Amino acid sequence: MLTDSDFRVLLACYERSWQGYRKVRKGPMKRVRKHMEALGCNSVKQYLDTLAKDQAEEEVLLSILRITISRFFRDRKLWTSLADTVFPALLAQTDKVKIWSAGCSCGEEVYSLSILYHMRWSDCSRLAVIATDANGSCLERARKGIYQKSSLRELDSQLLSSCFIPSGRRGEYCILPLYRKYILWRHHDFFTAPPDRGFHVIFLRNNLLTYYNSQAQSVALGLILQSLLPGGYLITGSREVLPETPCNLVATKNCDMIYQMRE
Ligand SMILES: C[S@@+](CC[C@H](N)C(=O)[O-])C[C@H]1O[C@@H](n2cnc3c(N)ncnc32)[C@H](O)[C@@H]1O
Repeated sequence: MLTDSDFRVLLACYERSWQGYRKVRKGPMKRVRKHMEALGCNSVKQYLDTLAKDQAEEEVLLSILRITISRFFRDRKLWTSLADTVFPALLAQTDKVKIWSAGCSCGEEVYSLSILYHMRWSDCSRLAVIATDANGSCLERARKGIYQKSSLRELDSQLLSSCFIPSGRRGEYCILPLYRKYILWRHHDFFTAPPDRGFHVIFLRNNLLTYYNSQAQSVALGLILQSLLPGGYLITGSREVLPETPCNLVATKNCDMIYQMRE
């Protein structure tokens, strides 16, 4: 048995936010229950004690807690602002635009970017994109680029047929190689050093700022922002707010999901 208040205790121990998990808690709670059963734990206290002594089992819990829900072109307004303001400004300033998608899940966000860029500027040779996640199986799926129709629901039929081919399995589509060429996939945890420096754009959406508590957010954000160039952009999710840390970021006028680092 695992109640909401047990789950809250567990989340607090791992610096997660109950508020962030509240709506999506059913799945992770079910998997935590199963994990507790497999370990023979009858209470959260016993479970926490077991995890404290066994790093491999703790990794299992961390993986359960990583919510991987995503979809192509989530928050349409954001993609319009990126295409109309952010990318034109960056392309006027630099030959190569360096982008990091942090916590990229199975690649939906970063492939949306690739599709958007192709539609506007056709040649992606001025893009350098790195996409990272702490979940290895997400990265594997991202590399394959195969998606269920449900994660493609924001694409109209014309875009779907020009960017994807049916994978051969019912209801699944595979993104064309053209849209993958400039993306490097890497394993990375928010709480470790960034995978590179000098990014013009960092996507940090629907992960750190939703599912972690404010202390954890401040620590990880401090590390992540070290790699954002002055004048560069941090992109958040539509309901996310930055923790109250002085981090030299200012909200932009066009879109409340786009922040700019002071020069
Ligand atoms: C809900 S998905 C968001 C995907 C995409 N950014 C979007 O907005 O559609 C959250 C992703 O963050 C990843 N994540 C969670 N904690 C992480 C951490 N500490 N380091 C790196 N990635 C993490 C998860 O594995 C998951 O794939």
